[in-house]
Amino acid sequence: MKGFNMKVCALAACLLLVGHVSGYSMEDLCAQWSGSGYVGDPADCHGWGYCQGQKLVSWNKCPNGRVFNAPTSTCGFANSTICTTSAVATCTAAKSPMYVAVPSDCNQYGYCFGNGSIGYGNCGAGGVYAANNNTCVWGPTCPQDTICRFMKNDIFVGDPNNCGSYLQCNNGYGTPGQCGTGKFYNPGNGMCQGTNPCTGESGNSGSNPGTTYTVGQSVAAVCTGGTAIAPATTFFMPDKQTCYGYFYCTTAAGNGVWNACLTGTHFDPDTQKCVSPASVDCTYNRCGNVNSPFMAVSGQNCKQYEICSSGATAYCPSSNPFYDEVHNICTKDKPAYTICGAE
Ligand SMILES: *[C@@H]1O[C@H](CO)[C@@H](O)[C@H](O)[C@H]1NC(C)=O
Ligand SMILES: *[C@@H]1O[C@H](CO)[C@@H](O)[C@H](O)[C@H]1NC(C)=O
Ligand SMILES: *[C@@H]1O[C@H](CO)[C@@H](O)[C@H](O)[C@H]1NC(C)=O
Repeated sequence: MKGFNMKVCALAACLLLVGHVSGYSMEDLCAQWSGSGYVGDPADCHGWGYCQGQKLVSWNKCPNGRVFNAPTSTCGFANSTICTTSAVATCTAAKSPMYVAVPSDCNQYGYCFGNGSIGYGNCGAGGVYAANNNTCVWGPTCPQDTICRFMKNDIFVGDPNNCGSYLQCNNGYGTPGQCGTGKFYNPGNGMCQGTNPCTGESGNSGSNPGTTYTVGQSVAAVCTGGTAIAPATTFFMPDKQTCYGYFYCTTAAGNGVWNACLTGTHFDPDTQKCVSPASVDCTYNRCGNVNSPFMAVSGQNCKQYEICSSGATAYCPSSNPFYDEVHNICTKDKPAYTICGAE
């Protein structure tokens, strides 16, 4: 990779994103898969689960500190298997030099020296790291941030962000696909069918609540005033209805095409990227597109939180007055997240 810049990651900035990294649980992965077999644990690179009939039926950790390799469904030696949840853990054990994705921040990439140390590089404004071909690419969505990262090779799974569509998993990457015109993918049996299996049965808050737009919809006059962040020539604009919807724009005068950030993330208009919700102060429904039970309320310095299931708001106890939405606890000290306001 050209232009490898050493950049020491400020610890606070790295920690900021942990916890909202993938937004998926093993149950979420199993729900999208018609087959039976192993999946990785999005919260722990040593952990695995077993899916059957779209349910998580068992789970455990690899023995002897080994790391679960989801594409091959095996437990690999830590010195040669990428830990999907921690670049530091990968490099601590790595015996030869390699580049790794930084799960908490797609704008960065890690470099394992092969001696236990890690260095960081940066893809620049608006850039994201694509680990499959070890390049920086442009876009608000992180290429490796799909459920396929935790799933086995050469299977088809439902796309949790786009019900009725599917992903083909290969080496941790998901290639999106769609059934023919008027057909929908059914993750229960892995078939394309004429009836829509998605309507009316989506029980989670990540299912695009609060917007009148649909994926791929072309809308006039939404790109006005937008500019590209060099070296990109196209740009992204917030949809001004949700925290997670954005428009892809080619010119300020042209139409914008709507899309949603991946589950667990919100759109940041400043960097034009999908990021951890805690790192952007969005004033629309912060419960949208996340699987969290509670979310901090904007403008309240993290002293107030919303109960996503009901929309009601509440306060932490006075002994621990601040709500830390990344760790889902009430704390004594105000967390340093953007949503909590200035220090
Ligand atoms: C990786 O670790 C295993 C088990 O500890 C060991 O047998 C193997 O030789 C190691 N590989 C390298 C390249 O050090
Ligand atoms: C590992 O190698 C890098 C580059 O040669 C060096 O800067 C770093 O100090 C080394 N770390 C250790 C723990 O030896
Ligand atoms: C690298 O991967 C990204 C994301 O998967 C893709 O958009 C891009 O076209 C790839 N670039 C090359 C040179 O293969």
